[in-house]
Amino acid sequence: MKKISLTGIKPTGILHIGNYFGALKPALGLARDYEARYFIADYHALNTMKDPAELRDTIRQVAAGWLASGLDPERVVFYRQSSVPETFELSTMLMAFTAKGLMNRAHAYKAAVEENREKGNDTDAGVNMGLFTYPVLMAADILLFDSDVVPVGKDQVQHIEMAQDIAQAVNANYRSEVLKIPQAAVEEQVAVVPGLDGRKMSKSYGNVIPLFAPEKELRALIMRIVTNSQGVEESKDPETSRIYQLYRLFASAEETAALARRYREGGMGWGEAKEALFSVANRELAPLREKFNGLMADPARLDGILGAGAEKARVIARATVSRMRKAAGID
Ligand code: ADP
Ligand code: TRP
Repeated sequence: MKKISLTGIKPTGILHIGNYFGALKPALGLARDYEARYFIADYHALNTMKDPAELRDTIRQVAAGWLASGLDPERVVFYRQSSVPETFELSTMLMAFTAKGLMNRAHAYKAAVEENREKGNDTDAGVNMGLFTYPVLMAADILLFDSDVVPVGKDQVQHIEMAQDIAQAVNANYRSEVLKIPQAAVEEQVAVVPGLDGRKMSKSYGNVIPLFAPEKELRALIMRIVTNSQGVEESKDPETSRIYQLYRLFASAEETAALARRYREGGMGWGEAKEALFSVANRELAPLREKFNGLMADPARLDGILGAGAEKARVIARATVSRMRKAAGID
């Protein structure tokens, strides 16, 4: 039997090509070896996103983005966190097993307190209970679906450890394996995709190439990549070139080797290199863009897919909650 992997996706902004290579593609690859489950963590996003129109739109864009990138809802379980109310039943029960001190030590909460201290504010200024109890909701997401493996970046490892602690407290109390203990799978070798200005591509730096940018915008953004002042004839170092670093993500090994040769030989200007990048990027992204636009234009279809996913998810979730309620004496 395959092990179960769970991926939580926080819908906090439009997807860019850093997300695509750093998160979407590696996560979609899990479906080969695992029984893969993916969900949109919309209640987690609510902690920071208070504009309903914006949140609604981001949820849809992120859902359509995963589907357009190749997530097959027939083969995996794909759902919105908010469509699985069992999350809250389990979350409430887990609260009873979570030490407040554990939450005090959570990185995100500690960082907020630290920042307040530095600014001379009340230590809890701007901290909502959603932020404070974030690790419990995340533990519920994970434990509800019997996850064996949760692939995450380094910043999320502490949350997985807290989910383990909470699950162990439950199991120890009831002297049985009520909840499965999950393991973090830290993605060490995932490439950091550079943005237009050379820093890490990130929404917060405003240097992103949106994954589903229309063709004209995609070309215009690529033309804006900052380069040095080397002339056309000069030999260029591929390894230090952002255009090359991006090219290699989209191109085959042969294409990449050929571009490196042309860089070194001289005679290739930055303009031509950017055209080459646009061409391979658009080759990969054009079909995704078309699928994305199709889903965004057909809300009923998107809702249908998410609705069917929620039904599959709830079958699993109900079993876990009923196990937990029975163990607890609330059955
Ligand atoms: P942003 O930095 O734009 O706010 P997020 O923090 O929402 O992006 O990231 C969502 C996912 O995409 C995470 O798994 C993160 O590791 C990945 N990711 C974001 N930017 C990059 C990048 N430039 N290169 C590789 N992975 C990235
Ligand atoms: N906290 C994760 C993030 O910020 C998102 C998330 C919520 C998640 N619940 C999860 C990830 C459960 C994995 C499993 O990216």
